[in-house]
Amino acid sequence: MYSYITWIGGKKLLRKKICEMIPNDINKYVEVFGGAAWVLFNEERNKITEVYNDYNSELVNLFRCMKYHSNAVKEELNYLLNSRELFEDFKMQYEMRGMTDIQKAARFFMIIKFSFGAKLQCFGSVKRNIENMTKMFEGIQKRLKSVIIENLDFEKLIQMQDAKNVLFYCDPPYYDTESYYKNANFTKNDHERLFNVLKNINSKFILTYNDCEYIRELYKDFNIRDIDRFSNFTSANEEHKKYKELIITNY
Ligand SMILES: C[S@@+](CC[C@H](N)C(=O)[O-])C[C@H]1O[C@@H](n2cnc3c(N)ncnc32)[C@H](O)[C@@H]1O
Repeated sequence: MYSYITWIGGKKLLRKKICEMIPNDINKYVEVFGGAAWVLFNEERNKITEVYNDYNSELVNLFRCMKYHSNAVKEELNYLLNSRELFEDFKMQYEMRGMTDIQKAARFFMIIKFSFGAKLQCFGSVKRNIENMTKMFEGIQKRLKSVIIENLDFEKLIQMQDAKNVLFYCDPPYYDTESYYKNANFTKNDHERLFNVLKNINSKFILTYNDCEYIRELYKDFNIRDIDRFSNFTSANEEHKKYKELIITNY
């Protein structure tokens, strides 16, 4: 199935390739940098434990409300209009005290859906039908039923979950694009922190990155494959649309 949101760096186009690389003998799948969870939603994994994690607590609140109260989020959305004024108010209201988690989740969902390019910043001025947007909610709630949802920094999560039959899928903010993510100032030090924790684990990992010298050098002792992919962004120049991504594994 598809994710119910668009997210910067979301792996909609790469999800099948990544799923093909997930080994059969694991008993736990951990999505460390969850975002919209395109890889998690792409396949049912009934027999194993699944963990979704992200450091962005607004996003994690939305996932938790979708897991436990998707009908209530849907109900809340019925009262919200697609307008620039409301969009700006929601952005401000999100920081306000006194709202329930469900109210916050509905507003965050609207900010994602109504913002330009799902970047959460500017109103996108695009027609949206709330009924269509919420059609998937029941299926999403069902899919998340047995998924454990965490809101941790990646290092702590990996250290906590590290064990022989675990697969970590890591999709960090790409190198040099870190500032695109609200609430997540991912620095060069964080890329190094990730490398240092991954290089010593007992688990298996799949790691996706943009193709750049720095990352190639850092992970030179692991298996690196590059793949061509088309950008989600529209461009008149064919060459701009194409770029390479890296899929790195320790197996
Ligand atoms: C490239 S996106 C993941 C996209 C996801 N694979 C998808 O398909 O939508 C990277 C995610 O890492 C999260 N993140 C940033 N810093 C983090 C940290 N220190 N620990 C865990 N997650 C973090 C961001 O909030 C963002 O959602």
